[in-house]
Amino acid sequence: MAIISLINLKGGVGKTTCAVALAETLAGHFKRNILVIDLDPQTNATIALVGVARWEQANRAGQTIRQMFLDEFVPREQRSFTIANCFIPRASNVEECQPHLWVLPSSIDLIGMEALVELVRSASEYRVEPFEVLSQHLTPSVARAFDDILLDCPPSLNAITLNGLFLSDAFLIPVIPEPVSTLGIPQILSRVRGLRRAFGREVPALGILVNRFDNTSMKNGPHTQICAQIAETPGYPPLFATYLSERQKPVLALRYEIATRTLQEKYHEPGHSSARTLPTDEALRRIAGEVLERCAALPTA
Ligand SMILES: Nc1ncnc2c1ncn2[C@@H]1O[C@H](COP(=O)(O)OP(=O)(O)O)[C@@H](O)[C@H]1O
Ligand SMILES: [Mg+2]
Repeated sequence: MAIISLINLKGGVGKTTCAVALAETLAGHFKRNILVIDLDPQTNATIALVGVARWEQANRAGQTIRQMFLDEFVPREQRSFTIANCFIPRASNVEECQPHLWVLPSSIDLIGMEALVELVRSASEYRVEPFEVLSQHLTPSVARAFDDILLDCPPSLNAITLNGLFLSDAFLIPVIPEPVSTLGIPQILSRVRGLRRAFGREVPALGILVNRFDNTSMKNGPHTQICAQIAETPGYPPLFATYLSERQKPVLALRYEIATRTLQEKYHEPGHSSARTLPTDEALRRIAGEVLERCAALPTA
């Protein structure tokens, strides 16, 4: 059992795309029971996995992480959030994934409430730290129902993201191999390391996942060079050996309305042999396999 947060301080690098596609691959191909926790108020992972109608229903019923944070501001006897009631089953628009995939939804109504979450400690009569709220609910006995838990995070290390990191066994950094995207890596690493004292332990990095790799323009083009630079930088977590290329099919990860029966139908597209890219479904299987291997090697596993 591993709990993994997908983190990058930059938006648009594919955190949500990778969280959804990897969750589906782990569920559909590896037949592991997967929980996706959507910590991003943008709610993209939730909508991608359960669609608008089921999200609206959950949101109206207060069965999202928004209610979980709001409950910290009222006395215990008035609280309504029960995590087990909020896992939406049969997530994903890929039929073969549905028996193995659950979502703890986010809420668009959480937008702008990040500052409120920072205030949890002063509001709480129990002196709960702002980063401890999720861990109070996602206890080890609740988490054990799943084989793996993936957390899709907002593009910052705000109090909401820290709730995910605090209970994670490791974090994974998706990057686009472009200077603007990779410049933030040292900042992520040092800020996560800086949490060691508050958390009482270090959260290790699982690795850097190259996304939107595009080397078609020239042989040994800039993407290849940037990946080599990342791989050679001392102190950086290891790159995943398989990259996710800039293609059409990864885009479908976030398109709930286009349902399929199998993962292959959703993600198969031929590789470009000239650019040495794999078909997208094959790349996802290899990356998911590497994630499992690296999780098994974690000291906590
Ligand atoms: N491998 C890829 N190929 C093509 N488009 C991609 C790929 N990965 C992500 N995208 C697109 O990039 C945009 C941002 O992705 P998203 O997962 O929302 O990033 P983040 O969660 O980091 O903000 C989306 O429009 C998505 O469809
Ligand atoms: Mg996102």
